[in-house]
Amino acid sequence: MLKSEEFFEEIISGILENGYAIKDDFLLNEEVGHLKNIFEKKYNDGEFKQAGIGKSGDLKTQLEIRGDEILWIDEKTEEPAELLLLKKTNEFIQYLNATCYLGIKSVEIHYAKYENGKFYKRHKDMFQSQKGRILSIIFYLNTDWKPEHGGELVIYKERGGVEEAIKIEPIAGRMVCFESENLEHEVLPSYAPRLSITGWLKNVD
Ligand code: OGA
Ligand code: NI
Repeated sequence: MLKSEEFFEEIISGILENGYAIKDDFLLNEEVGHLKNIFEKKYNDGEFKQAGIGKSGDLKTQLEIRGDEILWIDEKTEEPAELLLLKKTNEFIQYLNATCYLGIKSVEIHYAKYENGKFYKRHKDMFQSQKGRILSIIFYLNTDWKPEHGGELVIYKERGGVEEAIKIEPIAGRMVCFESENLEHEVLPSYAPRLSITGWLKNVD
């Protein structure tokens, strides 16, 4: 079995058993480095926009819910590091479709930056304007992450009638995958700039 297939198998078992999976070293250090360079260049060029929450509402209301700035990755990119990430993601999709019959048809993926003090309150990734999101995938690019930086992803999960909160540090190379429709989650306030790439695998075009 290929190394990548082993990773995919581990992720799929995690999702089937728990509704989520955490895979460290999904991205190699080198891949993280290249993605970070493009990320920072685009951020410094002012290409990112304040993220929305899928509802109308003024900026102040939005910022009380979600403070990250995002930039969508163009499917037709010619940037090698982005192409490699899309390729890895598509390999995962093909593996999922072949082994779990999920019928994933498309992917949408964006960079996200949380500046100091920013957070994303508890939510689900599937709201009205986001139809067809089956799985959420997140890649982290934070090479010197320390516990005091906060910024953990918290996944809420019910087990035997009791709610569990699973805290996940956004460390470089780590990939997290979970069911978009079922799992509530949040991003705790981040006390250092927090870099990630979030994608959704969808069963619609
Ligand atoms: C999101 C989200 C989590 C994270 O973008 O919807 O929940 O850890 N992100 O960045
Ligand atoms: Ni989310």
